[in-house]
Amino acid sequence: MKVAIMGFGVVGSGVGKILLKNAESIAKKTGEKIEVGHILDLRDFPDSEFKCFTKDFNDILNDAEVETAVEVMGGVTPAYDFTKRLLSAGKNVVTSNKELVATHGTELFEIARKNGVNYMFEASVGGGIPVIKPLVSCLAANEITEISGILNGTTNYILTQMIKNGRSFDEALRGAQQNGYAEKNPSADVDGIDTCRKIAILASLAFGKYVDCTRIKTRGISGVTLEDVKYTDRLGYVIKLIGCARRENGGVYASVSPMLLPKSDPLAGIDDVFNGVKINGSFVGDVMFYGRGAGKLPTASAVVADIIDILENRGKDLKMSWTDSEDGYLITEDETPAKYYLRVSGGSAPADAVSIGKDGEYAYITPALIEAEAKQYAEKLEEEKNMQVIRQFKVLQ
Ligand code: HSE
Repeated sequence: MKVAIMGFGVVGSGVGKILLKNAESIAKKTGEKIEVGHILDLRDFPDSEFKCFTKDFNDILNDAEVETAVEVMGGVTPAYDFTKRLLSAGKNVVTSNKELVATHGTELFEIARKNGVNYMFEASVGGGIPVIKPLVSCLAANEITEISGILNGTTNYILTQMIKNGRSFDEALRGAQQNGYAEKNPSADVDGIDTCRKIAILASLAFGKYVDCTRIKTRGISGVTLEDVKYTDRLGYVIKLIGCARRENGGVYASVSPMLLPKSDPLAGIDDVFNGVKINGSFVGDVMFYGRGAGKLPTASAVVADIIDILENRGKDLKMSWTDSEDGYLITEDETPAKYYLRVSGGSAPADAVSIGKDGEYAYITPALIEAEAKQYAEKLEEEKNMQVIRQFKVLQ
């Protein structure tokens, strides 16, 4: 199978490396060689082992032998246009581009279906963790009720460095960038946007209808400080950036926010660049997926898995897709009660509050409240008791 790679950055060069290094073993497994016919990138790579670089997308589009293109450019422009044209020309597209899948996936799946090809995106969620295919295939007997996960390697790396090594936020972010985990603009990681796209993809796939990532309530980790880390530790919890989605009242509730996890929760022990996804199926109960959520070779490994899947299933609809949803399908206000972490100053501390020695400041866990009640609870403390609410994060049940 002749493939083209579009984008020779962190992931694209990883895909090239795996296809070269494992050429023999892949050919043995699949009975066919995978040949890289073109690599599209505006930069020059004079020292690369590959000699098939081009700056012209048409070289790929017009090569009738190219069966599958790998889009690892990231962003919507020009990836969206390239993907549409490739699918329309009857070429499969494999991507790690979560932004594109989360925003234009519904349309791209339809174009792929009409042209008898597949648009595959295993690498768009959880880096190297196989989660898209298992969700569609291995859990097919179940009705999926809930998904929660640590879905961003950069922020999990930053939080781990802060919690375990007392590193500052900026120092930890630099480490994530040096390791090739962070997005070009790391605000997409830090502000929760990347996690939001990933939970939208998982929820769309698991529940069958499109969840619009731009409408998911999203909060990143910039409000998490070393003090919050200390308070949560004393309360018996760990703080993580969590994307979650569940079926609720005929629709889907989804959110992204730093949340407190009891130390016994399987997601609580997931550190550094590792991601974890917990999925609840109606028959199987909870299942966990765990692995490296970002980085060159882990992400490339998921891309190559999709290429192999296409190769082994030529002409078949692999059914990694969803359909459009109606207005009101996405619920953004949580109506299931949850406990909250409150960090406050002033007033009198409840008996179970903890302190880290900051004057007048303490933290505690509230009784279970629905989201609207939690908002009122905090407002009441400020307005009636003259207290200052410094932080309020939900506790993951
Ligand atoms: N920036 C992303 C992360 C890359 O840190 O998880 C993988 O999607």
